[in-house]
Amino acid sequence: MKLLVTGAAGFIGSSFARMAVRNGHEVLVLDALTYAGNLANLDPIKDAKNFRFVKGDVRDSNLAQELLFTFKPHAVVHFAAESHVDRSIMDASPFISTNVGGTQVLLDALRKSEINCRYVQISTDEVYGSADDKKPFTEQHYLKPSSPYAASKTSADLMVLAYHHTYKMDVVVTRCSNNYGPYQFPEKLIPLFTTNLFEGKKVPVYGDGMQIRDWIHCDDHSRGVFAALEKGKSGQVYNLGGGNGKPNIEITKLLLKLTGRGEEYIQYVQDRPGHDRVYLIDHSKATRELGWTPQVDFEKGLADTVQWYRDNRPWWEAVKSGAYREYYQKQYGQRQG
Ligand code: NAD
Ligand code: DAU
Repeated sequence: MKLLVTGAAGFIGSSFARMAVRNGHEVLVLDALTYAGNLANLDPIKDAKNFRFVKGDVRDSNLAQELLFTFKPHAVVHFAAESHVDRSIMDASPFISTNVGGTQVLLDALRKSEINCRYVQISTDEVYGSADDKKPFTEQHYLKPSSPYAASKTSADLMVLAYHHTYKMDVVVTRCSNNYGPYQFPEKLIPLFTTNLFEGKKVPVYGDGMQIRDWIHCDDHSRGVFAALEKGKSGQVYNLGGGNGKPNIEITKLLLKLTGRGEEYIQYVQDRPGHDRVYLIDHSKATRELGWTPQVDFEKGLADTVQWYRDNRPWWEAVKSGAYREYYQKQYGQRQG
């Protein structure tokens, strides 16, 4: 297949792009290289003949139309987004602009292009809000996003479903739980804590650390996106989850063990405003209809991930210092288009 993949210089999009290229698909990445975009995440496939990168913004409708017209993809897989909840609490504007506006621009470009192309929206379990009753969310659960990030993703998700209803566009939506794995930007819990511990710094646990997240390896998420793309019914939503609901403090203690640090490295800090207490996801529809189940055992996946950060210190040191931006933007200059 020819795949136009947005946001693939980020964490999960790059997992998907690496998998797609290795499986022989023709991949064109569109990414604006915001603070979260890092071309190093695509280094393993950068020389592949079936891979191309274009630096650009999903809100640029002329560019979107041109890429659709010239590349004629079989599918658009839309990962590009502002993805960090804490940043959305500081300033919601880029979240509304990219997550909602960018999605609408892509949908309109695709609608006008009149090519035969499936659209896959990478959404999130955060659209459901907090599962305070500890009952895993099904796709029928009402939508009750809590943070500006979650509200922007919910709006985008509903826009995609509205375009299916109104214009009969061929769309699929996936809603996944918390991802972990290599190449995750060290502002998120697992890479932030792991790299802090390697550096001998404390880890900031929000509130009482008893908030529950359902962890899934990014490669399992990517396999789920492929399953939805290839087997999903148009207009349908598919939940993807790891079946690993665990409180943050348990994850923190596992990371202390894996990095050989003691509990004196835990620092309880003020809670995130409006912090969702529990995310748990029921992915039985994806298993039933797509034949998908997560494959990576959590304890092994987490240990391998910590090992990856141990082995790839230059990657995360460059990210934490900000050096990755200058260096890789120079690299990009050599391989534009
Ligand atoms: P990320 O922040 O690591 O990467 C986002 C990528 O999008 C970056 O490469 C960035 O440069 C690019 N981007 C941002 N704004 C853009 C714009 N206007 N135009 C073009 N590119 C732009 O994000 P991630 O954690 O890999 O998440 C990817 C997607 O998956 C997001 O849509 C997110 O909402 C969703 N998701 C994430 C998780 C998770 O646990 N991280 C779970 C479920 C769903
Ligand atoms: O559920 C899917 C979502 O998971 C995705 O849609 C988001 O893009 C992704 O960022 C993630 O959101 P979270 O807010 O759950 O992830 P984060 O890694 O920021 O935080 C995980 C949990 O850890 C959360 O309860 C907040 C807590 N936390 C986080 C950080 C960064 C801390 O206690 N301390 C921290 O320093």
